[in-house]
Amino acid sequence: MSQCIFVARESDTAEGRVAGSVETVKKMKALGLDVLVEAGAGLKSRILDADYEAVGARIVGPQEAKSADVVLKVRRPTSAEIATYKSGAIVIATMDPYGNEAAIAEMAKAGLTTFAMELMPRITRAQSMDILSSQANLAGYQAVIDAAHEFDRAMPMMMTAAGTVPAAKVFVMGAGVAGLQAIATARRLGAAVSATDVRPAAKEQVASLGAKFIAVEDDEFKAAETAGGYAKEMSKEYQAKQAALVAEHITKQDMVITTALIPGRPAPRLVTRQMLAAMRNGSVVVDLAVERGGNIEGSEAGKVVEVEGVKVIGYLNVPGRIAASASALYAKNLITFLETMVDKETRSVSVNVEDELVKATMLTNGGAVVHPNFGGAVAQGEAK
Ligand code: NAI
Repeated sequence: MSQCIFVARESDTAEGRVAGSVETVKKMKALGLDVLVEAGAGLKSRILDADYEAVGARIVGPQEAKSADVVLKVRRPTSAEIATYKSGAIVIATMDPYGNEAAIAEMAKAGLTTFAMELMPRITRAQSMDILSSQANLAGYQAVIDAAHEFDRAMPMMMTAAGTVPAAKVFVMGAGVAGLQAIATARRLGAAVSATDVRPAAKEQVASLGAKFIAVEDDEFKAAETAGGYAKEMSKEYQAKQAALVAEHITKQDMVITTALIPGRPAPRLVTRQMLAAMRNGSVVVDLAVERGGNIEGSEAGKVVEVEGVKVIGYLNVPGRIAASASALYAKNLITFLETMVDKETRSVSVNVEDELVKATMLTNGGAVVHPNFGGAVAQGEAK
């Protein structure tokens, strides 16, 4: 009997994405897998039940999750959802594991083999499974679109018979995956763009997108990148120098998009209320780091607020605001990972716990928490 994949409808009403697309369902069918899609799963991403059916999926109710060998989700399953899964099922999702140890233990207790896609290592082999990159890229784009929507001036320079509209000045703070796409998008809309980062590698990338790089380039900056390519938390002295530079630069900006994150730490505070007060009335700032504590003083999770005459955008789940595109890429990331577990001959799904991708992402297996970051011992032997 072929193994059964269940594409869930997200129970969080604020989530517009879905973990399976028409393209990935087609792929799963080609791999010899049975695909069940929960009714309405793709609606918010503009995928109709009939679209899934046309490529061989069966549309089912939520109770059918019990027959699934593999559940594909965007968000970590709730207790109610877990109760519908059979023991031994594989669940692949964005698990948001840090600080949610109780929820991980619950999945272990239910006998689920769970994978946190956000823990996928950033190595060449796993590039097409990297949900952080695929979703951050879209978030960077959407941040500029959201800012432009709130901005009551034009972005590009326009020379008309009635006068000249100046190009908007956009400053992007943090030039990782999201920041680089924000730079590219703002440039395409005709803005004059500058950007900053603490990693020296960002300097060339910013310049290659036609933006001006602005940073305190001292000895600490030259050593700020970890071997993994991430930023380190900077010293108090560096932070003070950076703040002085930003305070001066920001007064001339119409828009600021902040994306700065440090793995395992709260987001660095880069823009103070005082800096906002020094900006032109009607300026717009977007805090993409709001979920991790925020880069901007006064930003509020899930809201657009006005602080010192500046609109401060703090939307949560920004990739979910561009759900159709985000789902297409997310679903592709998941199928690429799932494919590594499918035996092409027997058409069965099995987990090889020796695989480095499995080691990095598996949270629970065989009734226990197995990920070392969440109290689990390193798993041994074949899982399923
Ligand atoms: P991230 O989401 O952890 O952080 C965003 C950006 O904020 C980073 O560029 C970081 O340097 C910057 N930042 C942190 N503290 C800052 C501060 N105080 N001031 C200004 N900027 C600050 O990083 P993300 O976007 O995940 O990318 C990190 C690196 O990993 C990048 O170099 C990226 O190109 C690389 N990468 C490599 C991949 C691969 O497969 N090899 C895949 C994806 C990203």
